[in-house]
Amino acid sequence: MTVPECLVVESGGCLSGVLRVPGDKSISHRAVMFGSIAHGTTEISGCLMGEDVRATIAAFRAMGVAIHEHDGGSLTITGRGIGALMPPSAPLDMGNSGTSMRLMAGLLVGAGCDVVLTGDASLRRRPMRRITDPLTSMGARITTARDGNAPLRIAAVSRLHGIRYQLPIASAQVKSAILLAGIHAEGRTCVVETTPTRDHTERMLRAFGVELSVESGEIAFDGGQTLTATAIAVPGDISSAAFFLVGAALVDGSELTVTDIGINPTRTGVIDILRRMGADIVVSNERSTGSEPVADITVRGVPLHGIDIPHELVASAIDEFPALFVAAACAEGVTRLAGASELRHKESDRIESMATGLRTLGTVVTTAADSIEIVGRKTGLGHGRIESHGDHRIAMAFAVAGLRAAGPVEITNCAAIGTSFPGFVETAQAAGLTIHPR
Ligand code: S3P
Repeated sequence: MTVPECLVVESGGCLSGVLRVPGDKSISHRAVMFGSIAHGTTEISGCLMGEDVRATIAAFRAMGVAIHEHDGGSLTITGRGIGALMPPSAPLDMGNSGTSMRLMAGLLVGAGCDVVLTGDASLRRRPMRRITDPLTSMGARITTARDGNAPLRIAAVSRLHGIRYQLPIASAQVKSAILLAGIHAEGRTCVVETTPTRDHTERMLRAFGVELSVESGEIAFDGGQTLTATAIAVPGDISSAAFFLVGAALVDGSELTVTDIGINPTRTGVIDILRRMGADIVVSNERSTGSEPVADITVRGVPLHGIDIPHELVASAIDEFPALFVAAACAEGVTRLAGASELRHKESDRIESMATGLRTLGTVVTTAADSIEIVGRKTGLGHGRIESHGDHRIAMAFAVAGLRAAGPVEITNCAAIGTSFPGFVETAQAAGLTIHPR
């Protein structure tokens, strides 16, 4: 399912019914990575088959791992075991995927082969010293291009050693890169985080049989442990569901349920923030799929109001801010977010991409280095042409903005939606959005 370059959303309508979204991107990447280095056969169900995860799959295939794809996002991976990956014959292309690049770098620095990791123009602009510095202090030989960007060149080393590392930024990708390097390292690896970030790596390492301790923000384990193949059921991605949760919250008369969504507490900031803005959200049918909690989420449209977003919710809603900024623009009063400079280092500079797009739709927005202030209007948005900057989440956020626009919203550069949500247009149409290619 390729997503067209340019999408048009006709104004109005509401969202209703019951829908599912594709598998969680973070969990899908990790399932493929861990299955590839485990001993035995790993079965994955519900895997996201978007371009980002496909980049991870292609990389492991290029290193000799047999990965078989079945219908509906099921994969069978015959793991090669740690240290048995084959040297790839060409650079590994991570496309648009920061998670692939940063986690693979951690996994490969101790794998005993020379590897080059590269990506598209957006990924080659994103900061990589945040991982290369700690990996180097573990004994890795890894170099970046000028300015600390990809391509990353990894040279084989005979040994790595564990470190104790205090995360200077709240980043699950940095945490995970160090933990994955720790698998190949001698001694104990310990990552300390003051702000909790998504903990899918920790949960899944345990599911693959790794003994790991997590206590008061310290994640520690001994290197040299073997991963044992297992079955992983990937829940629906709350980051993809977020566009529909916000869309339904925005429009009176909407009533929408998204089923089988991962509700790991390190990811549910979007629910907390929407509720603080007055949204009517019910989380039901809570259950567990292996190591991750799952539930159905129902939203009814009611008037929203602006809020000051508490700092402690930033990390757990980091990917949902594009959608939340649209909610803020349609709420009564001002919404402020501070301490969110990380948003400038995503697939695009999401503070600027969202501010520019919302201004096109008539919203008053003020930005600073790490903050944004949005003056909401409960009468809704204007209309116009929005540049998504090739950022999937910017494109999808402005698609749901169409529900409250005064006229058509045209969104350019939308193909990147396929990185995380290949069936977005069809799902949105089924939910009630009037969206079509231009
Ligand atoms: C991710 C971590 C987050 C998030 C990204 C996925 C992960 O990035 O924004 O979409 O899978 O670990 P940071 O670690 O850079 O915050």
